[in-house]
Amino acid sequence: MRPSWIPPVLTFALLSPVLALPHGGGDFCQRPPPSTVTVTSTTTLVPGYVKPTGPHQNDNPHQHDVPVYTRTGPDQHGVPTYTPASYSSTYTSESNYPTLPPYPVYNSTAVGPTGTAGPTEVPWPPVKTETSSVIPEPSSSSIEPVPSASCRPSAQYFDRVDKAPSVGTLRAAFLFVDFPDFPATTTVQDLFADYTTAPSALYKTMSYGKLTLEPVLIGDKFHRMPLNSADYNMSRGFSTEEHLKYINDGLTAVGDSASFENIDILYVLPPPEASTVTTSAATASNVTTPDNFVISNSITFGQDLYNTWGYKTLNHETGHTLGLPDLYPYDGRPTTTFAGGFDLMGLVAAQSPDFLAWHKWYLGWIEDSQVDCVIDAGSTTHRISPIEIASDTTKAIAIPLNETAYIFAEVRSKNGIDDEACGTGLLLYIADPAVERKSEPEGADLGSIRVIDTKPKSVGCGKTNDDSGVLNDAPLLLGESWDTELGIIVTVKEVDGDDYVVEVEKLSR
Ligand SMILES: *[C@@H]1O[C@H](CO)[C@@H](O)[C@H](O)[C@H]1NC(C)=O
Ligand SMILES: *[C@@H]1O[C@H](CO)[C@@H](O)[C@H](O)[C@H]1NC(C)=O
Ligand SMILES: *[C@@H]1O[C@H](CO)[C@@H](O)[C@H](O)[C@H]1NC(C)=O
Ligand SMILES: *[C@@H]1O[C@H](CO)[C@@H](O)[C@H](O)[C@H]1NC(C)=O
Repeated sequence: MRPSWIPPVLTFALLSPVLALPHGGGDFCQRPPPSTVTVTSTTTLVPGYVKPTGPHQNDNPHQHDVPVYTRTGPDQHGVPTYTPASYSSTYTSESNYPTLPPYPVYNSTAVGPTGTAGPTEVPWPPVKTETSSVIPEPSSSSIEPVPSASCRPSAQYFDRVDKAPSVGTLRAAFLFVDFPDFPATTTVQDLFADYTTAPSALYKTMSYGKLTLEPVLIGDKFHRMPLNSADYNMSRGFSTEEHLKYINDGLTAVGDSASFENIDILYVLPPPEASTVTTSAATASNVTTPDNFVISNSITFGQDLYNTWGYKTLNHETGHTLGLPDLYPYDGRPTTTFAGGFDLMGLVAAQSPDFLAWHKWYLGWIEDSQVDCVIDAGSTTHRISPIEIASDTTKAIAIPLNETAYIFAEVRSKNGIDDEACGTGLLLYIADPAVERKSEPEGADLGSIRVIDTKPKSVGCGKTNDDSGVLNDAPLLLGESWDTELGIIVTVKEVDGDDYVVEVEKLSR
């Protein structure tokens, strides 16, 4: 199985089709019945947002209850303290559910000796009161986003050393091989035509014209491999050694019949009949061509190209040579566990296959100036245009959580290559390139990208055999708000044509 497999840093493979499990049972669309919610907590809060826990939490996944915090300090150190007031509120119908962002309301006018604040009836929906000048709590005034060059991940995660070029021309050699047990019955010209135009066009659109994938046909025929296809062990579970043996045998078979000059990446393709070559995989190992050029990134293709995923397999595997990770879990869970049907580095047949803004930033397809960076506490407003549309406008919001992790926000639409998307809106996800990927025997894979499900109780949309669909409706729509519970609250204030106007509330912690 996967244990003795390929070092994950060097090699990536596509999953064979996985039948994703349906999302549990029951009707997740139903709201909980009307309930009475009472705050009983008397916790004293120091400045900074402390998320309320306990009996005042309702079970509406989209909103949290919002107690009013009464300022009862300052304490002996001059630090203001807050006490949540008790309240109760009854929901009688779905429309009674609060729709305002779930920020705590600090009642800065109610200053009194510690512990003396009495129960306060909460205006409902809650009203955000003015904050005291001594407290750096969420303020309603906008602060300017800082330039995002300073927001970049450290060079370790952002440099492009040894990666295939992501901007300009990427010259890909197509080397067709066949085997004594599976001699080719088609011509290379037919396959070459089928698997060059569409992947190149896809990258052209995804990169806003910045990347040209230029196919170069090596020789005009299938090159005969010395071993039978079955002897190469090129089904799922092959080692880097086996992978390189296969690639080097292919290069040797070419002999001096073709030139590899100025080739950036190598594709090795079997005939569609070679049923024992099942899985496509990329490797970042150096190989030397017969005419003595070194190629640092190679991809071998299997039946999944022809029979399962189609031409986008080229875009997925080539994505690895550009430096992108797999977005599906390596620990055996369904393909769409982390990223749903967003970004073909997760599910190749995704409903919304365009690369995430996080990836486009790394690839140089969106510029630093198109990423708003939120560092300071407070409230900022951002106008974001869809990731699928070429423009020099803002494409994403980056909110660093610590030295390596970010919350990212971008707009997904039905434009461009995402025309079949069922889930559109403001997509939120956590990107943490420092996450060490784990495969089955090592334990749970945390994933370096995790879409935030803002509709955790819905069944989602766009269910297919490979995609349970649960994450596909994760994006926020107009008027919706999400508390990430990481001190970041995001609200869609306005939708103007294709653009989303988004408020980010960063709480001081
Ligand atoms: C804030 O406190 C003052 C004084 O106790 C009170 O009159 C007012 O109603 C409170 N505001 C809210 C929103 O609870
Ligand atoms: C394929 O696997 C068999 C059994 O493990 C091994 O003997 C053989 O050398 C492998 N083939 C290649 C090309 O490495
Ligand atoms: C691959 O070759 C390049 C030069 O072509 C070299 O800089 C790099 O260190 C080599 N990588 C490995 C892993 O040997
Ligand atoms: C950074 O934050 C992420 C998200 O909360 C967390 O998973 C990760 O462990 C944190 N990393 C460090 C080094 O604290």
